[in-house]
Amino acid sequence: MSSAGSGTASSAERIPLLEMRRVNAHYGAVHALRDVDLAIYEGELVCLLGGNASGKSTTLKTLLGMLKPTSGEVVLDGEVVNDRPTSYRVARGITMVPENRRLFKRLTVRENLQLGAYLRKDGDAIATDMERVYELFPRVKERLAQKAGTLSGGEQQMVAIGRALMSQPRVLLMDEPSMGLAPALVQQNFELISQIHEAGMTVFMVEQNANMALGIADRGWVLQTGRVVLDDTAEALLANPALRTSYLGGGHDGSDNEVGEGPAAESSSQHAC
Ligand SMILES: Nc1ncnc2c1ncn2[C@@H]1O[C@H](COP(=O)(O)OP(=O)(O)OP(=O)(O)O)[C@@H](O)[C@H]1O
Ligand SMILES: [Mg+2]
Repeated sequence: MSSAGSGTASSAERIPLLEMRRVNAHYGAVHALRDVDLAIYEGELVCLLGGNASGKSTTLKTLLGMLKPTSGEVVLDGEVVNDRPTSYRVARGITMVPENRRLFKRLTVRENLQLGAYLRKDGDAIATDMERVYELFPRVKERLAQKAGTLSGGEQQMVAIGRALMSQPRVLLMDEPSMGLAPALVQQNFELISQIHEAGMTVFMVEQNANMALGIADRGWVLQTGRVVLDDTAEALLANPALRTSYLGGGHDGSDNEVGEGPAAESSSQHAC
């Protein structure tokens, strides 16, 4: 499915698949999200950028229901789901590929994939979806009997994405998919994400690797100390010098800074663009 940016007039009439409306979230005294507004439309590939501790993972946790907003609304396909548990949201189509992939390392690749379908009872469709994962990632099929912990980082990423796809998500959330991958695999990782998007999946990815993420995304937001400071098309964000100098590049003096911010993605070898 091709991109469906919300910047167009037609998308303004559509209901977002997933939305945050003026969401605030706290961990005790830590004010982690501040009036965050974002909307993800079906078929989009969108990204949330920000330095360390800017609130990216917290945004995903709040969308999934692992953290309850202190104010504002999380809306899934038009329904306010603030009081709904994670299991409900997963059953309604949200799935996350967690940071560092979190595979069950002692289980085989096949068992990891099957776990992605644990809420499902439709055996035939599960088998068909397994085949789809093999089509997307032929390498995974070759490794089915192998323990997940013995796979390379790139292969683990394929299994983690495959496992997420096995729950038949409508939107896939990804927390720093390029984190921990060898530099040579980072490019491949973004190609995989582009590939699943082109196969029809709506993807919301959190990244520190701004150049790479914006290279494949339709739109993006930039978080700083829990607040959305930029909201634009990927093209405009890439062309915006403030993205790096002010928002991802550090240099903040720490005032009003319950939630810190980190060094530029570009300064980290693991995030080299
Ligand atoms: N369980 C928690 N308890 C208390 N504070 C937390 C907790 N999780 C996160 N925080 C704080 O909330 C803020 C936002 O953290 P979050 O993990 O969302 O940032 P992030 O942008 O994902 O950072 P990173 O790039 O390091 O993954 C940070 O100040 C962090 O210390
Ligand atoms: Mg994080």
